[in-house]
Amino acid sequence: MRHQIVIIGGGPSGLLLAQLLLKQGIDAVVLERQTRAHVLGRIRAGVLEMGFVDQMREAGVADRMEREGLLHDGTILSYNDREVRIDFRKHAGRPVTIYGQTEVTRDLYEARDATGGTTYFEVADVTLHGMEGDTPYVTFRHDGQDKRIDCDFIAGCDGFHGVSRKSIPDSVRKDYERVYPFGWLGVLSETPPVNNELIYASSDRGFALCSMRNMNLSRYYVQCSAEDRVENWSDARFWEELRRRIPPDAAERIVTGPSIEKSIAPLRSFVTEPMRFGRLFLCGDAAHIVPPTGAKGLNSAASDVYYLFQGLKAFYADGETDGLDSYSQKALDRVWKVERFSWWMTSLLHRFPDQSAFDQKMQEAEIAFLSESEAAQEALARNYVGLPY
Ligand code: FAD
Ligand code: DHB
Repeated sequence: MRHQIVIIGGGPSGLLLAQLLLKQGIDAVVLERQTRAHVLGRIRAGVLEMGFVDQMREAGVADRMEREGLLHDGTILSYNDREVRIDFRKHAGRPVTIYGQTEVTRDLYEARDATGGTTYFEVADVTLHGMEGDTPYVTFRHDGQDKRIDCDFIAGCDGFHGVSRKSIPDSVRKDYERVYPFGWLGVLSETPPVNNELIYASSDRGFALCSMRNMNLSRYYVQCSAEDRVENWSDARFWEELRRRIPPDAAERIVTGPSIEKSIAPLRSFVTEPMRFGRLFLCGDAAHIVPPTGAKGLNSAASDVYYLFQGLKAFYADGETDGLDSYSQKALDRVWKVERFSWWMTSLLHRFPDQSAFDQKMQEAEIAFLSESEAAQEALARNYVGLPY
């Protein structure tokens, strides 16, 4: 078999890239390890930057997002009894869109059904070959058969645990990592959100986040220990802990209900360099991970897709390779700034197990400065709504 591009991974980055390419008449096949139902069942991100929405529009997949997505003009940060509202429109000129990653992925799969394009689900033993030459190919098992696809380029969109990054030799690759000593326990519930904007709350008991998917679907998180298990958290214990960490007026009006999903995510900062090896290009979580505090995971996957798509488009239009040659550097320049912001938000709002009284004073002073300084609010707002591509 032959396709112009092999995309490894049918998550949001792989699907968005496939859809953008298809609209340009560039043929990409997608290889996904899981079933489609499994990919669609994963509850993850919920805050989209305008750049993400613009790309969905360019891919012709934004109609439902524009109808159902909620525009948020700001967010609340609370630290013990102090509250600061960050006004996105005032300080950064644009809102963010609340629309779940599950919905993004569903829209992209439905668009792929409608427009065509081959997707193999439940593939195994995906192996990348010949990336350093001009004739790369990918082998895998599907439906009990060995398959081989020859291509011009391979896009590694297979997430943090994928095979693409590991296919770059250790002698070429450098990984940078910080693992945080806590996780996030997340609950989805069919209840109205406690507030019309997100609340990022830091208290002596740890961090909590009040988010949403729509006006009858709430998403809440509490910081938990890295070793904690979902089984330790009954719904009642979760709601009680959340109430104790958020501002008192929110705690009073929160509507609780049965959880329809509950999971624990570890927190990690990770970047691999470079993001290109010969004819392999890494995109999204395959190349970098952020702790979720700034809502940047999915959004930084989308900026990689943007740079790679521009490079591929120019290559297929007139053989121009500058975009592909500068892909890794352009993507990494933005990734590192997003890493910095996510690390900063995480450091500011979580209680660390080894935190000293001095460390806590630093957090308090940072929040005090933020509440008094329009410049500091602007810096936060600009990062949160998304740095330019
Ligand atoms: P993924 O979504 O990981 O997609 C990669 C795909 O590749 C998967 O479908 C996987 O099955 C497939 N794959 C893996 N290995 C192979 C292989 N060998 N062969 C073929 N296919 C393969 N971000 C936020 O902004 N906010 C959040 O609240 C948030 N919560 C998260 C919670 C969890 C538990 C996790 C893991 C991530 C969360 N993120 C969050 C991050 C965000 O979801 C990711 O940044 C985003 O999914 C990245 O998209 P991606 O397509 O690059 O990778
Ligand atoms: C959500 C997750 C985040 O990490 C974040 O910063 C904001 C919202 C969410 O799942 O809704």
